[in-house]
Amino acid sequence: MPDGKAILITGVTRGLGRAMTEEFIRLGHTLLGCGRSEKEIAQLQKQFAAPHNFTVVDVVVDAQVAAWAKRVLSSHGAPDLLLNNAALINRNAPLWEVDAQEFSEVIDVNIKGAANVIRHFVPAMLRRKRGVIVNFSSGWGRSTDAEVAPYCATKWAIEGLTQALAQELPPGMAAVPFNPGIVNTGMLRSSFGSSATSYPGPGEWAKIAVPFLLKLGPSDNGKPLTAPVRGAND
Ligand SMILES: NC(=O)c1ccc[n+]([C@@H]2O[C@H](COP(=O)([O-])OP(=O)(O)OC[C@H]3O[C@@H](n4cnc5c(N)ncnc54)[C@H](OP(=O)(O)O)[C@@H]3O)[C@@H](O)[C@H]2O)c1
Repeated sequence: MPDGKAILITGVTRGLGRAMTEEFIRLGHTLLGCGRSEKEIAQLQKQFAAPHNFTVVDVVVDAQVAAWAKRVLSSHGAPDLLLNNAALINRNAPLWEVDAQEFSEVIDVNIKGAANVIRHFVPAMLRRKRGVIVNFSSGWGRSTDAEVAPYCATKWAIEGLTQALAQELPPGMAAVPFNPGIVNTGMLRSSFGSSATSYPGPGEWAKIAVPFLLKLGPSDNGKPLTAPVRGAND
């Protein structure tokens, strides 16, 4: 596929990551994905054979990300588009009721996980002076609500981390914080409960978001972007 890009996505086992995986592949791109759930990763590799590659990786564990990067970079080269999508949300609760372990898990996946992936994949992108890094933020990376303080803290962090990274990249590359809008996934059902069903599902969302992500380039560097979907700017 002459125009096919190498797309790296963290958190492909469900939700937005899974829907983007299917849509990028449908459009002729090569998918390099990870997640922790072994069964879903094996199922994805069965459904989408090589050159697509799916690996069990916990992005929190730097050594696992390092090993994944070493293998994928030698087999597929540097990704054209790196999507730091994997994340967790805390169970709805006021901040003082979130225990230390749950708080740490949200911080570890959402901030340190993204940094681990950047640490091990971006040097290869820098050598080519090409490629776009998209760090998944949220409406809650730009506004706040009660009962999701840990999650808000991580997504505000992602906005800052990404804009600083954008200032470090050479011309020809881009890093953007990306608010996907509101999509009916497991994560949304955790925070919104049954009203999550009034939002579009991930398949419908991916049909709009994937072409948007494919068009990103150097002129977007450092811009906080939002998927052009219904209600994303509410
Ligand atoms: N849905 C929305 O309305 C919405 C709104 C704003 C922002 N977002 C953002 O969009 C992204 C995707 O959200 P979603 O709704 O699709 O969430 P989701 O349905 O809960 O899926 C999260 C994905 O992340 C993976 N993941 C979690 N921890 C991981 C880890 N340590 N290592 C590797 N993978 C891990 C999960 O796979 P495993 O469990 O298999 O590891 C899963 O595939 C997130 O960054 C989220 O904050 C979503």
